[in-house]
Amino acid sequence: MTAAVTDAGSPPGTEAPDPPNGTELPEPSISGPGRPTGNAALKLVLLGVVCSAAWLASVLIGGFLDPGPEIHRVALAAHILALVLAFGAILVLDWVGLLWLLGRRDVHDTRRLDSAAQPLIWGGLAILLISGALLHPELSSPPTQIKLVSILVLMLNGLVLTQTMKQLHQLPPGTLFTAMAAGLRARLLVALCLSQTCWWTSVLVGLLNSTLRRWTGA
Ligand code: HEM
Repeated sequence: MTAAVTDAGSPPGTEAPDPPNGTELPEPSISGPGRPTGNAALKLVLLGVVCSAAWLASVLIGGFLDPGPEIHRVALAAHILALVLAFGAILVLDWVGLLWLLGRRDVHDTRRLDSAAQPLIWGGLAILLISGALLHPELSSPPTQIKLVSILVLMLNGLVLTQTMKQLHQLPPGTLFTAMAAGLRARLLVALCLSQTCWWTSVLVGLLNSTLRRWTGA
């Protein structure tokens, strides 16, 4: 697992010593570097405001603007492409996270994957917001309302999850999930479950709406 640290940029010869076998980690549990500092918390709040504003703009523009069938077709293609990018990256990242929970991967495997996946996830989300606005969502439909709220929650939760992952990646290589402090463990599990629930809700409601529209010819 030292390779993971070296590959991520440590100069040769300064790598961390070989990690202890995860089962040998001392008790009590590892607490991680603690909650975000003042600067990190402020950055989190600012990013939350930016995400909420982008979401609101997408919903309001989508509700009022009907750009016609040609643009609708192009926007739907972009929507599906962005969905593959963002949701695909989320699934791989969460799968490696699950393997770590089961003790089949090192905590730093998720770090390297996380930094590679972040641009795909956030870039894909940006395209989903823009293309979704051009698809003229039916804002009065309850499933659409559930989908849109899920999207806001998954974005804000994604910001918190990114912060929690940063804390996780400061832990020594070889750290087992069971050796972490209960607080960090609970935060991670809640954020991961919320992320999966909101992503699947958004995808399934999107597919349901699309299918119903084709069936009814609306
Ligand atoms: C995480 C973000 C999102 C996900 C995962 C998502 C998912 C989906 C999926 C799977 C479809 C079905 C595509 C198909 O026809 O096969 C869809 C369609 C649609 N999405 Fe999204 N979407 C997201 C964001 C948005 C946003 C922000 C809006 C609007 C503001 C939006 C509005 C729509 C509309 C109106 C359709 C129906 C298109 C049609 O068939 O007329 N989506 N979405």
